[in-house]
Amino acid sequence: MAEIRPMRLSDLKMVLEIEEASYPRPWSLNAFITQLAKDSSICLVAVDEVTVVGYIIATQYVEVWHMLDLAVHEEYRRKYIATDLIERLLELCGCKKHRGFTLEVRKSNRSAIKMYESYGFICTGIRKGYYRDNGEDALIMWKDSEDMLA
Ligand SMILES: CC(C)(COP(=O)(O)OP(=O)(O)OC[C@H]1O[C@@H](n2cnc3c(N)ncnc32)[C@H](O)[C@@H]1OP(=O)(O)O)[C@@H](O)C(=O)NCCC(=O)NCCS
Repeated sequence: MAEIRPMRLSDLKMVLEIEEASYPRPWSLNAFITQLAKDSSICLVAVDEVTVVGYIIATQYVEVWHMLDLAVHEEYRRKYIATDLIERLLELCGCKKHRGFTLEVRKSNRSAIKMYESYGFICTGIRKGYYRDNGEDALIMWKDSEDMLA
């Protein structure tokens, strides 16, 4: 089982390798450094012994958490590593007052959509042609905070 801990600058080489293998338009090194430097962001990695095998990044704007990036190394997928990352993130975000969570996901990314739906995210809209590499639409997904549901 992978350990979940805060991301460090020294993780970024392995994080970038996963990012580049996972996305047609990967984040740059600077994009990760920017998130790591922000007090309003949470950046977590999943580590198998010394190897980074996945990560998740979220940032809070006003009272909403935006889930910005999530990927798991191809060889480690379907082992509930994304599940562990999401659960830890929701736990940490839950400690701060907020209205809920939002994210964008490619319309064709059925596996990720299914995963988010299992956490109670629902599709609330579409951003037409959001992804510049192929003009694909993004689904906007939303999940209320537990406080909003109480
Ligand atoms: C999406 C991603 C993060 C999932 O990571 P993972 O560690 O393999 O996911 P988990 O093992 O925690 O899967 C949790 C659930 O999500 C769903 N799921 C995940 N991968 C799936 C797949 N390839 N096909 C169908 N369902 C899938 C399943 O419901 C799964 O539960 P189950 O195994 O009990 O059926 C990983 O495939 C990835 O890095 N993809 C490329 C980057 C990406 O698409 N990120 C999300 C962008 S918004």
